[in-house]
Amino acid sequence: MSIIKNVENDITKTIQNLGYEIPRIILQPSRCRELGEFQINDAFTLAKENHCNPREIAEKIVTELEKDNRFVNVNIAGAGFINLSFSESFYLDFLKELQKDIKNNIDMEPKKKIIIDYGGANVAKILHVGHLRSANIGEALKRLARLLGAEVLGDVHLGDSGLQSGMVVSEMQRRYPELDCFKETYQGEEFSLPITSEDLSVIYPEASKKAKEDEERMKECQEITFQIQKGHVGYNALWNKIKDLSIIEIKKIYNDLNASFELWEGELDSFAYIEDMLAYLNEKKLLEISEGATIMDIKEETDKKEMPPIILVNSKGSYIYETTDLATIYGRMKRFSPDEMWYVADSRQELHFEQVFRASRKSGITSRDTKLEYIGFGTMNGPDGKPFKTRDGGVMTLRDLINLVNEETRKRLNPLITDEEEQKEISKMIAISALKYADFLPYRTTDYIFEPSKFADLEGKTGPYHLYSTIRMKSLLKKAENLGYKDYSIHKLKNEADKSIMELLLTLPKVLKKSYDVKSLNDIAEFLYKLTSAYNKFYSENHILTSKDEDLKTTWLALTEVVYKTNLLLLDVLGIRVPEKM
Ligand code: ARG
Repeated sequence: MSIIKNVENDITKTIQNLGYEIPRIILQPSRCRELGEFQINDAFTLAKENHCNPREIAEKIVTELEKDNRFVNVNIAGAGFINLSFSESFYLDFLKELQKDIKNNIDMEPKKKIIIDYGGANVAKILHVGHLRSANIGEALKRLARLLGAEVLGDVHLGDSGLQSGMVVSEMQRRYPELDCFKETYQGEEFSLPITSEDLSVIYPEASKKAKEDEERMKECQEITFQIQKGHVGYNALWNKIKDLSIIEIKKIYNDLNASFELWEGELDSFAYIEDMLAYLNEKKLLEISEGATIMDIKEETDKKEMPPIILVNSKGSYIYETTDLATIYGRMKRFSPDEMWYVADSRQELHFEQVFRASRKSGITSRDTKLEYIGFGTMNGPDGKPFKTRDGGVMTLRDLINLVNEETRKRLNPLITDEEEQKEISKMIAISALKYADFLPYRTTDYIFEPSKFADLEGKTGPYHLYSTIRMKSLLKKAENLGYKDYSIHKLKNEADKSIMELLLTLPKVLKKSYDVKSLNDIAEFLYKLTSAYNKFYSENHILTSKDEDLKTTWLALTEVVYKTNLLLLDVLGIRVPEKM
């Protein structure tokens, strides 16, 4: 249990021993720093329940807390706000606890199995900036949930059953009619794909353009898509090869973004469950036929807005996006029976998930205990406040965007790094930190403007600022090690600067808990900034290594190490890699 929680439990017991019924008190960082570091506001609720004056209750509590040597300056402000600060000895004990293991500053969540569906790249299509946030947020939430004790599987859930499959196959048929997979007699024999990734990146846009211009061609693409879904041997053999080729490129980008997935499944993998699922729904008498489509009513009594039925088989007999998502849940329950499934996808998909979740609960594919959660996010806009565009006005691909930020971070690279390969690698890592940190800073559902030059800066609320500062902490520790220091012993703190760092560290468990509850990383990003700035202030005001006071020096080194490790831990949760130098 974290130290702060432990203190809260003790204070709660103290209040209960005074004869008051109270579930748990919360220590809040004080709004008025001069009065104390933390405050307790519970005297007000207690007063209401016990029909007495809050100040009277506050006084009794204060009398008890004053006896506890962990606290100093316990006082009452206003009508009954209790303020308190922590004593130096408390902070030193806290620092010792963190020195043993910084994870002692984390409160674990109840153990759960969670599947997080994020990334969502589409096969044969280019990843665009809209896919960035899903990858960033999903990966960070996965890491956060793991840190707090959950067992998590990440599923990239590739878009592979859509019309693009028919389009690409039809274009391939025109370009390479001699391929074995197109022969009447084809039965799954091995053949080699005559195209590269670069070819594919032109084939899809071209195929899509042709289909949009020509009705006949569009019909053909739809027919092939349908055949692929039904398991046509030749088309599937080809599409699977195209998928493998496309996945190589998709993996490169996710790798740059430091996002990795345990499951590389796609919409097509859910087809194995569709028949079973439809039979199950049919048996429960939940399906209806309407205008040739198979649908399911998902209205609920409390609905305030119109809720359209979910379509599971369209009038052409095809399975659609809703079908694959519901069947994916069906399959996941059979294979993994997770306690929760989280979906990180852009806000246009909210209704889609609402429909799928309702159908899943109503039919009992998932029980009431299984939590299905849609985690939407706002749009990342360019400096003009509109969706990101390339210089010539085209749609910005994720690769273009990474390159654009890379140009900015490259300019700011330490000139002492001369090795070309090293420059490339480090600059890219910094660029990703810039992109990710900017992405986490606003609350998840808020739209934000990404200005490459601003977020590549080494100062301010940026990824590079945190990397730079963290590397500096590391090099200080390295210097200390070279001077023969290790296992820094902890003796005393000196001033506001070092104490304010300890104060911040105390609040970390709450920051993590809140981020986990609301599934937004903004509080972690903010905390990192506060901690890093507090440390940098302390660093500039105190000459750690040249201090004449050895006791102070080793304590400060311990403090540096704890902040360094906390930064590493949190940057890792955010999926931000820290280079050796920059
Ligand atoms: N492929 C989709 C897209 O690009 C995102 C997939 C989201 N996940 C899901 N299970 N539907 O918009």
